[in-house]
Amino acid sequence: MKIAFFDTKNYDKPFFEQFKKNNMKIKYYETKLNEDTCSLAKGYDVVCVFVNDDINKNVIDQLVEYNVKMIALRCAGYNNVDIKYCKDKILIARVPAYSPYAVAEHAIAMLLTQVRNIHKAYVRTKSFNFSLSGLEGMDLYGKTIGVIGTGKIGKIFIDICKGFGMKILAYDKFPSKLEKTEYVDLDRLFCESDIISLHCPLTEETHHLIDKNSISKMKEGVILINTSRGALIESKALLEGIKTKKIGGACLDVYEEESDVFFEDNSNFIMDDDTLALLTTMPNVIVTSHQAFLTKEALSNIAMTTIDNIVAYFETGECENKVE
Ligand code: NAI
Repeated sequence: MKIAFFDTKNYDKPFFEQFKKNNMKIKYYETKLNEDTCSLAKGYDVVCVFVNDDINKNVIDQLVEYNVKMIALRCAGYNNVDIKYCKDKILIARVPAYSPYAVAEHAIAMLLTQVRNIHKAYVRTKSFNFSLSGLEGMDLYGKTIGVIGTGKIGKIFIDICKGFGMKILAYDKFPSKLEKTEYVDLDRLFCESDIISLHCPLTEETHHLIDKNSISKMKEGVILINTSRGALIESKALLEGIKTKKIGGACLDVYEEESDVFFEDNSNFIMDDDTLALLTTMPNVIVTSHQAFLTKEALSNIAMTTIDNIVAYFETGECENKVE
């Protein structure tokens, strides 16, 4: 079984080499899969892809022509694949959950960094600046947190917030029954939350869920956390909100236009995304580059489930993690 593995990072390979089966041969490509690179998939049975590979109609047509039978996503989100166009052409499988704890805990790490100014303190003490001036923080106890999307990650995030003694408001298209959590409509969540954390998928409906209009409904000084998908937030509206101080802080693990810059060392290049450049210079904006999933436990689960998905499909013609 031949697998073309795109967008390989040095942390992927050891886990896939550990879990791959004897009959599998994996070719690791550093490049992302897109229209320019899909010819590299010729002669392979499976392409294994991540969040920023671009699997549009043209790429799918090419893969089908090369007789590639499966797109094995090694992530949960699938907004980068034209799912409808794949129907009856090629199977898509994903890893629905690899460590929801990893993402929920990263969102909390960013929030604590933000409200206690750890990012500033870390830099200061490195050069023996032990002044506390400007480092005043905020208690999380008693604050209202609005959680949009209460699936696997959102639920764990909520449980951690309960431990801090926070009041929980939630919005989900399909609400669950959660203790000490009040489901409200989006407008009320925007109006009453001190902190808002996004844990819903990126769909046509949620694209730019946070825009100029929704920001205008929020509390002065609201803190936004996005560990879900960049395009849930309209970046220019976010920047404007930061500049006008309507938004008191942003914790971003994802960014609308991240595919060209995240996951890579761009420190020797001129950043040509002005919005990202400005956002990263703001003292109250913390950016990590789609790092929330990156724990040993998650990487191990990703490799195991991806391999299992491939084996299941080739042995039985079915795969419980297929995306339709
Ligand atoms: P999940 O599928 O368990 O939960 C998503 C929740 O969002 C569900 O409860 C669903 O009903 C809700 N939802 C769907 N449409 C909605 C809408 N229009 N408005 C409000 N809620 C809506 O997914 P999970 O595992 O909790 O992941 C959430 C998101 O986190 C993923 O879609 C993915 O984009 C992101 N993610 C980010 C990672 C990172 O490294 N930063 C890693 C893994 C996932």
